[in-house]
Amino acid sequence: MAWASIVAVLSSVLIFSAFSPGCSLSLNYYDKTCPHAESIIANAVKNAVSRDKTVPAALLRMHFHDCFIRGCDASLLLNSKGSNKAEKDGPPNRSVHAFYVIDNAKKELEAWCPGVVSCADILALAARDAVALSGGPSWDVPKGRKDGRTSKASETTTMPAPAFSISQLQQSFSQRGLSMDDLVALSGGHTLGFSHCSSFQNRIRSFNATHDIDPSINPSFAASLRGVCPKNSKAKNAGATMDPSSTTFDNTYYRLILQGKGLFSSDQALLNTPKTKDLVHKFASSQEAFNKAFVNSMIKMSSITGGQEIRKDCRVVN
Ligand code: HEM
Repeated sequence: MAWASIVAVLSSVLIFSAFSPGCSLSLNYYDKTCPHAESIIANAVKNAVSRDKTVPAALLRMHFHDCFIRGCDASLLLNSKGSNKAEKDGPPNRSVHAFYVIDNAKKELEAWCPGVVSCADILALAARDAVALSGGPSWDVPKGRKDGRTSKASETTTMPAPAFSISQLQQSFSQRGLSMDDLVALSGGHTLGFSHCSSFQNRIRSFNATHDIDPSINPSFAASLRGVCPKNSKAKNAGATMDPSSTTFDNTYYRLILQGKGLFSSDQALLNTPKTKDLVHKFASSQEAFNKAFVNSMIKMSSITGGQEIRKDCRVVN
């Protein structure tokens, strides 16, 4: 077997072994042991959002990145220690921020009900609250996740990349038990937040041997992106919002894709199969259909479990 195929097989074994839907979650998990858990977390999120409008996007992405590696086990929240470089310090996670919001909620929870609420559950609930506070839907989050004890930056290479094709996206999602429907609905998370130039600059200059600009991108949109991301710029914080209403959870993301204004190849690629294209049309024309599908897929993604303990401090194993 070629080396590349051995690596591919090993990495899917790794992903599969972390994917253990058998661990059952429940809606009333903390009802007796920590009845105020959800309101404590909601307050921590609300306080942070009132000071910083970029927090909801950060929390939603944080939950997604956590769930895609070893399941939703808060492995993303662990700090690097000694020679172990943690997920947090892997390339796709360097722009993930607002970890302090989870720390604040955890501190309060430890005061009320020590050792009871997992960091993984805090993150799943905070992501839900972030969406609701941005004008999106709300939903009941099944709880009872455990926190993991392993976090490796090297495993972040298995995250889907913005240059992925539709078949690479499909593979990445199906390895985690998620379908093409989930892919289209969850990609709608890109209705919130911001991207650095580095995540899309391949599309706007020297795209390939025949095209300087990605032909799937709207030319006037490409021109505006070239303006915000000048060639050889050293500006670290340069970039673009994911959609013009980037602090409001709405279906603008799908309408933009239909106009060739998806920021990443992975967004625009949703038009490349009949099934995913139909869903983009459906969500572009109905906020209600999008909300319903998003909630359904969020519950599915956030039920990929994998941890073993209830951490005392979300940044370090017990
Ligand atoms: C389908 C595969 C996906 C790819 C390839 C992808 C890729 C990316 C990239 C490259 C960024 C910009 C990072 C930066 O430059 O700072 C980003 C931002 C973001 N992503 Fe995704 N993403 C995907 C799916 C998702 C999903 C499933 C969600 C949530 C349900 C999500 C939520 C977000 C949010 C909210 C931001 C903005 C973060 C912020 O402003 O802090 N993404 N994504």
